[in-house]
Amino acid sequence: MKQNLILCGFMGCGKTTVGRRLAAISGRKFVDMDAFIQEEQSMTISEIFSQLGEPAFRKMETDAARILSQRQDLVIACGGGTVLNPENAHLLKQGGLILLLDVPLPALQERLKNDTQRPLLQRPDRREFIESLHAQRMPLYRQAADLVIPAGAPGNAVARTILQMLGEEKTL
Ligand code: S3P
Repeated sequence: MKQNLILCGFMGCGKTTVGRRLAAISGRKFVDMDAFIQEEQSMTISEIFSQLGEPAFRKMETDAARILSQRQDLVIACGGGTVLNPENAHLLKQGGLILLLDVPLPALQERLKNDTQRPLLQRPDRREFIESLHAQRMPLYRQAADLVIPAGAPGNAVARTILQMLGEEKTL
């Protein structure tokens, strides 16, 4: 049994991309929390936000965190807001380590500039909104995380860095 590796960080930081690679090379199963919630609800994240509202989505995140924290051998890609709720961070930590993927703001802006899937970003002042949300959230991600991973590199390289930092590489 391996402890879960839980990836957190801002939208666009690579939680899903790095998570898939990390799962493949570390012999864990990959779970994306947004995808998990979409499957449970048979609705997209956009539909959940527009039809049920953000508070309902946040409650679904806590339910998902509770379920996933009971499992092992997972790489879990959180949503960008998941660990901002201390209850979620506490639940997830019971099953493993929370890793923050730290990508510089200009790279995040570039990756997110044409996004159409994230309900929070569908607004005319997207650039300024991302900048202020990033400033607001980074300290909270750092508080929740057990380890901060410099994550500006391609997904595969970041996944390898994580395993090196955890000392798991030699056991592969
Ligand atoms: C959110 C991030 C999204 C998704 C939802 C809310 C956030 O996940 O959970 O749109 O509050 O930052 P990604 O970080 O995977 O885009």
